[in-house]
Amino acid sequence: MSEETLPGGNTVGAVRIGDVVHKVASPWTPTVHALLRHLEEAGVDGAPRALGFDDQGREMITYLPGETVGGRVPWPGWAFADSTLVQVGQWLRRVHDATADFTPPADERWFAGSAMQPGLIVGHQDAAPYNATMNGDRLVGFFDWDTAGPSSREFDLAFSILSWVPIYAQGAAEELGFRNFKDRSRRLHLLLDAYGYNSDRHAFRAVIAQRARLQASVIRDMAEAKDPAAIALLPVAGNLETSAAEVEMLPDDFWTR
Ligand SMILES: Nc1ncnc2c1ncn2[C@@H]1O[C@H](COP(=O)(O)OP(=O)(O)O)[C@@H](O)[C@H]1O
Ligand SMILES: [Mg+2]
Repeated sequence: MSEETLPGGNTVGAVRIGDVVHKVASPWTPTVHALLRHLEEAGVDGAPRALGFDDQGREMITYLPGETVGGRVPWPGWAFADSTLVQVGQWLRRVHDATADFTPPADERWFAGSAMQPGLIVGHQDAAPYNATMNGDRLVGFFDWDTAGPSSREFDLAFSILSWVPIYAQGAAEELGFRNFKDRSRRLHLLLDAYGYNSDRHAFRAVIAQRARLQASVIRDMAEAKDPAAIALLPVAGNLETSAAEVEMLPDDFWTR
């Protein structure tokens, strides 16, 4: 069967052979595959199934059929639709609830180097439009679990809020096709209501700024180490730092439901 290079991808990209996606593996891929099997056993759809490794050592996961952002700019309309935002909130809640009792394998290893502990969940950590599959207006799920890892619920929510509300720097958000900045508070609460988030939402001001700055610093550190994908992402790091500063300036009532 022939290999089809899939559109999009911020790091190594992926190819499709039939219904299977093959992607260069990382040291943490076995832990991520254990996580994907845990989600499968918990009955959480909306994530690829782990299929092991091919004879080149690439990871194999199931292809999630549907439409992706790929390399498109601006993003397609569904990336900014209310109904998608609601499904993203519901999806994050299912994943967080299902991973609260995840026991990693003995050789546990994650992208960010952390370790699972009681009280944490496993966050996707990159659940953005460019890692989603849609079937019409239905969210099929998220691929690209490479950077998943132990997290608070808020820390993983912060990343999805940044990219789906979105709370990116204004210039960057406009380039992606988002214009209605006055609507962002409503959209934030729509996502958090769909998640069923009942704690104080003002806390997200600090968590989102922290999450954006961490993402920027990971990109900058990897670029410094001459990682070509990270070098290409340097403008994104700048946007994330601007986002963090803008988030801190948002008025108190932005966070009030
Ligand atoms: N399981 C999957 N189902 C459907 N499409 C996928 C899947 N995995 C990857 N893709 C496609 O391949 C592209 C690159 O894969 P991704 O895992 O996001 O790589 P990167 O780490 O480089 O961002 C995605 O943008 C998407 O189009
Ligand atoms: Mg990706």
